[in-house]
Amino acid sequence: MIVTTAQLFKHAYGKYAVGAYNINNAEQAMGLFRGAIESQAPFIIQISKGARAYTDKRMLEAIIRSAGDIFPEAIFAVHLDHGDEQTCYECIDSGFFSSVMIDASHDPFDKNVEISKRVVDRAHAKGISVEAELGMLGGVEEDIKVEDGHATLTNPAEAQEFVKRTGCDSLACAIGTSHGAFKFKGKQSLHFDVLEKIKHLMPGYPLVMHGSSSVPQDEVARINAAGGTIAGSMGVDVNEYLPAAKLGVTKINIDTDGRLVWTRVHREFFRDKPSEFDFRPPGKIFIAEYAKFIASRNKLLGSAGQLADLRASLGK
Ligand code: G3H
Ligand code: 13P
Ligand code: ZN
Repeated sequence: MIVTTAQLFKHAYGKYAVGAYNINNAEQAMGLFRGAIESQAPFIIQISKGARAYTDKRMLEAIIRSAGDIFPEAIFAVHLDHGDEQTCYECIDSGFFSSVMIDASHDPFDKNVEISKRVVDRAHAKGISVEAELGMLGGVEEDIKVEDGHATLTNPAEAQEFVKRTGCDSLACAIGTSHGAFKFKGKQSLHFDVLEKIKHLMPGYPLVMHGSSSVPQDEVARINAAGGTIAGSMGVDVNEYLPAAKLGVTKINIDTDGRLVWTRVHREFFRDKPSEFDFRPPGKIFIAEYAKFIASRNKLLGSAGQLADLRASLGK
């Protein structure tokens, strides 16, 4: 059942984070839905611009609708990840999306406000919620000293002004993470100080953490042992998901980790069976492994086991 992102946020806020997983194809969708049902968790499916261009956006929508039919127990929202203004409008007008993200975070503050506000106005007219972004994610050094007003982390006072001026429904904040497999040089913690300040200024307001993959080191080691060369990768400590959720991080975006599962499965499969050329056997393994991964992440996010209570609260 597709619900609004706002409904998921209302149930989760301050208690757990909803996992937001990117999908590009049928195998990822099958693994995601299976893992969500196994762990009895609500979730958000994210579609990036790149995913919409890979095969065809209509194919992706059909896959998601079919997955909803195959897994009628599932409760989820459909979200545009990192949209530009035009793609946001397309998704708002499609009638398929629960929410969109406008990412104008690379523009100066006032321009970001202007663009995000235009998208919010169009989306709210159709009952769709909007995630906007303030602060820039990037590679962060272990010993970086960050104060309010620093270039990359979200400034809490600016966040408050940004939300007031745009009316956006959730805010992606830069709290030390970055996209991809190479987030940190050495071990580093999330900037809980930034989250605490934002929560103090905007109690009850849902925040979003991008770049949340944990880049499991055993996964990377298996990929490299099967011919990969992913060196020096480092991700978010999974034990920090729940503390972040308690401080208002209501949506946690995970994409890279799923790609690592795919890479490990396929590298090992073709290393061990070099004469194989049927894509279905590794595809089946990937679906099972991705389901296992999703269930494990939902447990860490605190969303596992929430389905029955959510359903009751929705009156379904
Ligand atoms: O934040 C970006 C997501 O990981 C999506 O990546 O644009 O390559 O689909 P993509
Ligand atoms: P990762 O690259 O850490 O998986 O982040 C994904 C993301 O933020 C999607 O918007
Ligand atoms: Zn992101």
